[in-house]
Amino acid sequence: MAIERTLSIIKPDATKRNLTGKINAKFEDAGLRIIAQKRIQLTKDQAGKFYAVHAARPFYDELCEFMASGPVVVQVLEGEGAIGKNREVMGATNPADAAAGTIRAEFAESVGENSVHGSDAPETAAEEIAFYFSDLELVG
Ligand code: CMP
Repeated sequence: MAIERTLSIIKPDATKRNLTGKINAKFEDAGLRIIAQKRIQLTKDQAGKFYAVHAARPFYDELCEFMASGPVVVQVLEGEGAIGKNREVMGATNPADAAAGTIRAEFAESVGENSVHGSDAPETAAEEIAFYFSDLELVG
């Protein structure tokens, strides 16, 4: 399988509970390498731009408020099949549906406050990585 890169976000519910290290250990244990990482505070407007694809959804405003409610850790994960592997490690969007041992099963509080985001396809991964990082910041 090809080496891929994917955009990951550790969300405010997780940074608030000091879970960054525990979540990063899940990525690294799964063979994903963190090749870029920074802790930032998004504005609601910036969160809205990142999640523009969801603008028509009923939860959009709540999602943007939440993503701007505290620090997030944005990261680029690299590895074989990294996009799919990261989604396996994260578990289903709704923690009630997430498989045992996944990040969302262990840490997520609700479908909205679900601890992590991960890109869903190669095209979105490239767009989402470019939203937060320049090429100079990616050190594989
Ligand atoms: P994420 O993978 O970051 O992509 C979009 C986010 O929207 C998703 O994770 C959830 O956090 C959020 N989301 C999806 N469905 C709902 C919902 N029904 N209510 C609130 N937030 C949701």
